[in-house]
Amino acid sequence: VAEKHTITLTINGVQHRLELAPWTSLLDALREYLHLTGTKKGCDHGQCGACTVLVDGKRINACLTLAVMKDGAEITTIEGLTAENGLHPLQTAFIEHDAFQCGYCTPGQICSAVGLMNEGRVKTVDDIRELMSGNICRCGAYPNIVDAIQEVMQIPPKA
Ligand code: FES
Ligand code: FES
Repeated sequence: VAEKHTITLTINGVQHRLELAPWTSLLDALREYLHLTGTKKGCDHGQCGACTVLVDGKRINACLTLAVMKDGAEITTIEGLTAENGLHPLQTAFIEHDAFQCGYCTPGQICSAVGLMNEGRVKTVDDIRELMSGNICRCGAYPNIVDAIQEVMQIPPKA
C-alpha cells in the first residue's frame, strides 16, 4: 500500500488538510474528497478544459495536476467565484448572453476567463477566441461565450 501524503490546500479561502495518495489529481481531490463538484471532469486528459481552476490566480487543468504538487497553494473553483453579494460579473454575463446550453463546460469556461483576465494579454476579440481555445464546448456555444467575455473585458467589437 502506497504511503499517503498530507497536504494543505486553501480552497476558496478555506484551509483543508488532505491525506492523499501521491497520484491523486487535483481534480479528484476537489470532486471526490472535498465534494466540490462544480469543477467538471470531461476528458481527464488535458484536452477539454472542463476541469479548469485557478491556482494562485493562474488557470490550470486540474486533471493534469497532481494535488501533492500544489501543497500550500491557493485554489479558486467556480464555487469560490460567487461572492456573498452575488454572482461574479462573468457569471452574470454568461447568463445574459445565453453562453451555455448543457452547462457542462461552463465552470471551466468561466474559471478560464477569469485566468485570462488576470493574464492581461487580450487586446482584441480574436485574442479571446485564441486564448480560450483550450476550453471546448460540445454544444457549440462559442459565439455567446466570446460575447460574454468580451463584454466583461470591455473589448470593442471588430471594426
Ligand atoms: Fe481536464 Fe478535460 S477534464 S482537460
Ligand atoms: Fe454544453 Fe458547453 S454548454 S458543453
